[in-house]
Order: sequence, then structure tokens, then C-alpha cells
Amino acid sequence: MHIRTQVGIIGAGPAGLTLANILTAEGVDCIVVETQPRAHVVSRARAALVEPRTVVALDRYGLADGLLSAGMPHGSCEFRGNGERFSVPYSVLAGGRYHQVYPQQLLHADLIAARDAAGGALYFQHAAVALKAGDLSEGGTITVESAQSGSRFDIECDVIAGCDGFHGVARRAVPLEHLRPRVKQHDFGWLAVLADATPSTTDIVYALHDDGYAGHMLRTSTVSRYYLQCPVGDSADNWSDDRIWSELERRLAVPDWKLTTGRITQRNVLDMRSYMSTRMDFGSLFLVGDAAHTITPAGGKGMNLAIADSVALASALTHYFRAGGTDRLRAYSAERIADNWRSQEFSHWFMQLLHTPAGEAGDASFMRRLRSSRLDMLRSSTAHASAFAESYVGPAR
Ligand code: APR
Repeated sequence: MHIRTQVGIIGAGPAGLTLANILTAEGVDCIVVETQPRAHVVSRARAALVEPRTVVALDRYGLADGLLSAGMPHGSCEFRGNGERFSVPYSVLAGGRYHQVYPQQLLHADLIAARDAAGGALYFQHAAVALKAGDLSEGGTITVESAQSGSRFDIECDVIAGCDGFHGVARRAVPLEHLRPRVKQHDFGWLAVLADATPSTTDIVYALHDDGYAGHMLRTSTVSRYYLQCPVGDSADNWSDDRIWSELERRLAVPDWKLTTGRITQRNVLDMRSYMSTRMDFGSLFLVGDAAHTITPAGGKGMNLAIADSVALASALTHYFRAGGTDRLRAYSAERIADNWRSQEFSHWFMQLLHTPAGEAGDASFMRRLRSSRLDMLRSSTAHASAFAESYVGPAR
């Protein structure tokens, strides 16, 4: 069996779903294939901090109703260190722009509902198992396999959008000498914890502790996300419920504050790797989101960058199919890479603020003292806090 479309989209994460919805709204034909079942895509808890530019872009296509009605506006974050606390009112410092806290799986559900309402093709439990991408004028082919029947078919398309994350087929289809990635493997891990626990804070909390960073993130009124710095290669099996709650209590401690605990529903050690492909277009194949770049969770950028990529690619593809010129499509890679690097720089800076080496070996005590000074600058200098605010809330567009 052969199917023909203008854009074949591999992956129904935030990148693939946003791209598909915008293309369909703009009259460009596309098909999405997703290896996981629908139930998995709408229940997998991941990010939640939605930048204002993401909200604006989704709202332009009527895709932000859910997040605007159920999201929690967030414009101030709290830092803790040495038993003290202070807030950075980043929304005030960034001209009134603020985040929405809205769990990614709810956004997935909204984007899938919009796709269904538009009658757009979206095949769950269909994995892209191979792809061929020629020059832009030649188009490409995605070979797809159904998980239920095992049968295979080809999707012939003018353009392939690889929105299949870091472990998908699209990135692996590009020779390494063309990707020429820049990679940073961080020398500490993060234990990510999700719990059915009422938030113990109204603002996201970043706690700098000599035994390692601890974070209290927000999700909903009954669910919270926490992070604990841990050694590289640590296993979630080493973290019992009791150990998690007592470590969070210890590292987040400030006077007159209490941590609300609850049932832990997820614990996993994150692979703390930053990865940047040096380009995102390869003939008729375009990489989008995590397929082209990964970033640490510090600053909550990953989902926003994936959506910003897909918004830019959708605009360039619409122009290409309407007017025929390739200039916008050819500008996609350079424009997105420049923006993605700015977020990488911020996330890397943030990591340096949050972490220090433990113990007394080497330069550990020097680095810890340096970190105190960094924190102090954030507390005492409006210029410093404003620069943080600009990067944290993300660009205006
Ligand atoms: N065929 C079809 N689908 C695939 C294949 C394949 N061979 N391989 C992977 N997929 C699917 C995955 O099951 C997943 O649903 O592609 C999707 C990729 O989604 P994400 O990994 O979420 O990637 P992306 O859309 O780029 O968004 C990444 O979201 O959670 C945030 O911060 C996080 O940076 C991250 C961002």
C-alpha cells in the first residue's frame, strides 16, 4: 500500500502535533505516524512550563483554549540557599510576560482533539521503521509498520518532518558527518519525582544546597514535580519514598515552611545531556524538536523549543507549498539553531548556578563559594535579575 501526502510527520509529541495542526489549518496536507498508543501519549507526564511565545503561537491557531482556561499563570520564582529565601518576580522584570503551568500530557490531549476535529490523519501504534529522503525536489518515503497487524506501508511525501524525539529514526537516518553534533554530558544526575501532593509553594522553588540541588516544580493543584541532584549513574531504585521526602525536606528547608508529602507516582534518573545538531535540514528531511537538540530541564525550555521549531517549519512549509520559493525553508535551520543555542546557553548557566561539586576534593569549596556569590548577584542586582527574567520567560516571539 502507498499513501501520498505533502508532509509526512514522524512522531506525535509537542513538535509533531503542533506542526500537523498548523499545516492542516494552512491547507497543507500532512499525515502523522506515532509509535505509541493514544492512551500513552495523553498520559505521559513530562514538562509543564509553557512560555508566553508558545501560548501566543498556539492561540493563533485556536490551540490554546485548554491551557488558557486550566493553566496556572506563573510569574515569580523562589531561590533558597543557606536557609534563606528570596523571590525573583521575573514577570515584572520581563515586561509583564509570564508562563502558564499546564502539564504537557494535557496539551497533547488538546492537540490530538484539535487534529481529530480537523479530520487530519494521525496513526497511533504505527512506527516509522525506515525512511528515504532525497533532495527537496525529489521528496521522500517513510516506511511504516503497524504494531497491531505487523503490516507495512509506504508514505510518499514532498517533505519528511522528523519529530520523533532523540531516539527516533529521523536523526539516525542522517550521517553523523552531516549532523556534526555538539554534545555536553553533565557530570551529575537529576532524580525526577512526580507525586500526588498538593504544592507546598505558589512559586517554583530552586534550592541550592551543599549536598546538591533540590527543586519543587508545579503541575496542578494536586500534583507536584520535584528534582534532586544525584550522582551520575545513580539508580531510581536507590531512592525509597522515605529517602526522597527526607532529602527534599532537608535541602528545601527554610524557617516556617513545611513540605506537603503525598503518593509518589513516578521516579526516574534523567540523562543529563545537552545535544545540538549543527543543522536541521537535510534535503527533503527536516528535524524538529528533540530529534535535533536536547536540553537539560533547567529553565523548562525543551517543550517550548520543540514547539518553536514546529511553528517556524510550519510557516516555511506553508510558504513553500503556496508560493514555491525555497528561501524560507532554507532559512529554517539557521534561524532555529541560533534561537536554540540561546536557550542552551541559559540552561547551561542555570545548571552552573544550581549545582556544585560535593565534598572538599579539587576545586569543590571554591566552586561552592562562587555559587553563593552568583546567588547574591541575583538577589541584589536588578540588572542581573532582569537578564535572568528575559531568558527564563523566553523571547517575545
Ligand atoms: N515512529 C513514530 N513515532 C516515533 C518513532 C518512530 N520511529 N520514534 C519515536 N516516536 C514518537 C515518540 O513515541 C514520541 O511520542 O515521537 C514522539 C517524540 O516526542 P518527544 O520525544 O516529546 O519529542 P518532541 O515533540 O521533539 O518534544 C520534546 O518535549 O517533554 C518535552 O522537554 C521535553 O524537550 C522535550 C520536548
